[in-house]
Amino acid sequence: MNKRTVIIVVALVSILCLAVGGNLYFMYYLNAQEPPLSSTRALENVIRHKIRHLKPAYLNRNPRFFMYRNKLLKNYRPATYENASVLWDIANWWPHENEIYPLYDSSMGQLLQTLRNEPITKVNNLSRGTQLKLLVRLSNQQKVIFKPQWYPRDIVVEGPVYSGKDRHIAEVYAFYLGAVLDLRWTPIVVGRVVNLKTDIYDKGDSELQNTMTITPGDNETEQYCLFGKCHYCNEEETVCGDENNNIEGVLIYIIPGQLAKRRSPWQRTYKEDKRAPWEDDMNYCKSLKGKMETIRLLDLIDVAIFDYLIQNGDRHHYETREERVVLIDNGKAFGNPHKDHLDILAPLYQCCLLRATTWERLQVFSGGVLTELVDRLTKNDALYPLITDKHKRGVERRLLVIFAVVEYCMDREGEKMFKNL
Ligand SMILES: *[C@@H]1O[C@H](CO)[C@@H](O)[C@H](O)[C@H]1NC(C)=O
Ligand SMILES: *[C@@H]1O[C@H](CO)[C@@H](O)[C@H](O)[C@H]1NC(C)=O
Ligand SMILES: *[C@@H]1O[C@H](CO)[C@@H](O)[C@H](O)[C@H]1NC(C)=O
Repeated sequence: MNKRTVIIVVALVSILCLAVGGNLYFMYYLNAQEPPLSSTRALENVIRHKIRHLKPAYLNRNPRFFMYRNKLLKNYRPATYENASVLWDIANWWPHENEIYPLYDSSMGQLLQTLRNEPITKVNNLSRGTQLKLLVRLSNQQKVIFKPQWYPRDIVVEGPVYSGKDRHIAEVYAFYLGAVLDLRWTPIVVGRVVNLKTDIYDKGDSELQNTMTITPGDNETEQYCLFGKCHYCNEEETVCGDENNNIEGVLIYIIPGQLAKRRSPWQRTYKEDKRAPWEDDMNYCKSLKGKMETIRLLDLIDVAIFDYLIQNGDRHHYETREERVVLIDNGKAFGNPHKDHLDILAPLYQCCLLRATTWERLQVFSGGVLTELVDRLTKNDALYPLITDKHKRGVERRLLVIFAVVEYCMDREGEKMFKNL
């Protein structure tokens, strides 16, 4: 190699280093100029602006809701039945992929009645999960899950979005909301008042009875309380019934078939001083698009919309059935009616993708119809009214936010954000 070649090579390498270094410096400078947080804030400002200028179609009632409303009201009307086992056989055949029950089926009204009326025959603890639940058998061994009431309807749970214990009514609300939005991915749920002595203690095995306390009350009565067996269960935190030991709860029909549990890419850190990568990276979805099937991503975006409406910010894991996402464990919704945690919608605004059918359906129930219809559907539930007016207004307010976020995405991506998968 002669001297000239060496000089040229050195010069080229130096220029290259300068260019790369300059670029890195420039990128660093850009990042320093715009700290990651501001991008989420910027989005919030865009959304706020969009909400003020929403098209009337988003604010008014859509005449098309009539058709859906009448069919839904008919479908969920309670109906008498003769043999509960027959209905359970039917319901156990219903699930297909993540659709747990059909859009319309004449057996639904009867099935709901079996869950409301069939006697409880046996009760066990169910130590699966972090929150108190029981495994209950109805007549003919049909298994359902029981979750008790912890809070009155008007509780305002303060703190992070995942604070507090399960809100039992949220499970029932989620079922009907899923039915209305055609996200029939939730278990079938009814509210039910049970007796802690006669339905639970007397029907429980000794393991369960060991997780209950009995204290003498006045008038020779006994008060039965339950603390159960679960990750967060302890003897200091019990649920008790009224003076007759009656307590509100929900019965959740167990989804037939195998479920697989997966970590959510939008999982929170559950530490106030530590942020997850997705919280600061508005391009977070880019890396997921390569790693995850589009159909899964679309499922998770539907889930985000569903969770945002009810403010369930605790879906750190999600379950799949035949590779499609199901919506189980919805009890952390409806904590604080005054708060809207926009970041539950991160899958939507970071990916700017949405199933065309979901978008269609959301628009059908604009103008207050969504909560009115769920309210009418739940009138036959033992726990009606499920949520307070403040929570209903919260759901409607959040529907407008979803419309605004979709408008923002349409500005960015156009019609190609809608997918038919
Ligand atoms: C209900 O139907 C099941 C079959 O699914 C049958 O075994 C049972 O005897 C029936 N019970 C009554 C009371 O008819
Ligand atoms: C009930 O709790 C006991 C421990 O007290 C545990 O061994 C058992 O597996 C639990 N039963 C169920 C059905 O989870
Ligand atoms: C005690 O029982 C009697 C009759 O069963 C009832 O009238 C009374 O209200 C009860 N008192 C209390 C404190 O529960």
